[in-house]
Amino acid sequence: MSGNRGVVYVGPGKVEVRSIAFPELVDPAGRKANHGVILRVVATNICGSDQHMVRGRTTAPAGLVLGHEITGEVIEVGSDVMTLQKGDLVSVPFNVACGRCPMCKAQNTGVCLNVNPARAGGAYGYVDMGGWIGGQAEYVMVPYADFNLLKFPDRDRALEKIRDLTCLSDILPTGYHGAVTAGVGPGSTVYVAGAGPVGLAAAASARLLGAAVTIVGDVNPTRLEHARRVGFETVDLSEDASLAEQIANLLGEPEVDCAIDCVGFEARGHGHSGSQIEAPATVLNSLMEITRAAGKIGIPGLYVTDDPGAADSAAKHGSLSVRFGLGWAKSHSFFTGQTPVMKYNKNLMQAILWDRLNIAEVVNVTVIELDQAPSGYAEFDSGVPKKFVIDPHGTLKAAA
Ligand SMILES: NC(=O)c1ccc[n+]([C@@H]2O[C@H](COP(=O)([O-])OP(=O)(O)OC[C@H]3O[C@@H](n4cnc5c(N)ncnc54)[C@H](O)[C@@H]3O)[C@@H](O)[C@H]2O)c1
Ligand SMILES: [Zn+2]
Ligand SMILES: [Zn+2]
Repeated sequence: MSGNRGVVYVGPGKVEVRSIAFPELVDPAGRKANHGVILRVVATNICGSDQHMVRGRTTAPAGLVLGHEITGEVIEVGSDVMTLQKGDLVSVPFNVACGRCPMCKAQNTGVCLNVNPARAGGAYGYVDMGGWIGGQAEYVMVPYADFNLLKFPDRDRALEKIRDLTCLSDILPTGYHGAVTAGVGPGSTVYVAGAGPVGLAAAASARLLGAAVTIVGDVNPTRLEHARRVGFETVDLSEDASLAEQIANLLGEPEVDCAIDCVGFEARGHGHSGSQIEAPATVLNSLMEITRAAGKIGIPGLYVTDDPGAADSAAKHGSLSVRFGLGWAKSHSFFTGQTPVMKYNKNLMQAILWDRLNIAEVVNVTVIELDQAPSGYAEFDSGVPKKFVIDPHGTLKAAA
């Protein structure tokens, strides 16, 4: 059992499946991690966040093993672990969190203070997030396992729903966090920017939270067609009518109660010609325009501190042309940052197990083999309406 293979970032536009080291109970600083477990990876998903790195839009180094969306089976248990056993099936929050620092104690696990010497917050397989080895692989190490891992209560039932449960490591809690922070409740009118997996997860979460109407916007007509198929209203921002006009056509007024940015810094501009070019502040500015006074704006979409591929020198350091005065004038609240997955994953697991949430269908989970990861990355990057889930050991195939 000493071999391991994983998806490695090679350079802009290029990933490869390579032989990598079998994980050890050791942290990135080389300290023994008796609080950790080794997982045999059952499912690991490709994320829009990975694409920022693979497109060369971050300072990710070549050789990085990718993968922060992980579901697995415990195969080795560190001597300090108390609550997990070999054979347990678990969901791994993409945040690496120590469970001991003031942030973790307050459930702000997205900004744990002990897992990344460079800044608050750690994650597996991600640039600037502490050097934890990614899980788009056959095996991976998870530290502070008692704290981090969510154990599925019934293995057989979990395997039946595994295509849905794999979304608990990131996109479902992330979309839900976006909806919760935007203040979605019964009867809310909601706009979600972005019809990628996170946008669709936010829309599904808004529906679960009781929204009256959920409108999803994108510049990609194929993704919008899929969003309509799974029950959401849509606006096409590659058309020349403005977002406010298109919302007014649907709602009779140009504003919504709650808005969620599920796009981030690689946003396209709006309109026929605008959508051909990148305009990183478009979503933030348009959300301030269409969110009612005193409304809340959830911003799970990623904004970076350094973007070597940005069009101008300010954006290269994460400075965008945001019309903050508009949001200020309307008394808006803004909610940013990495999602603290642990705040939500247990309840969302129950919602899945009790058929309240068909997330796999909503995001169109598409299962591939580990060796198909490079083509999965390329296809996802082309904007297909799919959420690619890697099945490194054929477990999902066998369970289907
Ligand atoms: N905060 C977190 O913890 C967290 C977690 C997961 C993902 N994310 C981020 O969420 C974002 C979405 O992730 P994803 O996997 O769905 O990515 P994705 O790239 O598949 O989807 C983004 C979508 O936005 C669309 N888009 C571009 N410009 C737009 C505009 N002006 N208006 C509306 N739509 C526009 C694109 O066409 C695309 O369909 C990414 O930035 C990702 O890094 C954040
Ligand atoms: Zn992700
Ligand atoms: Zn911590």
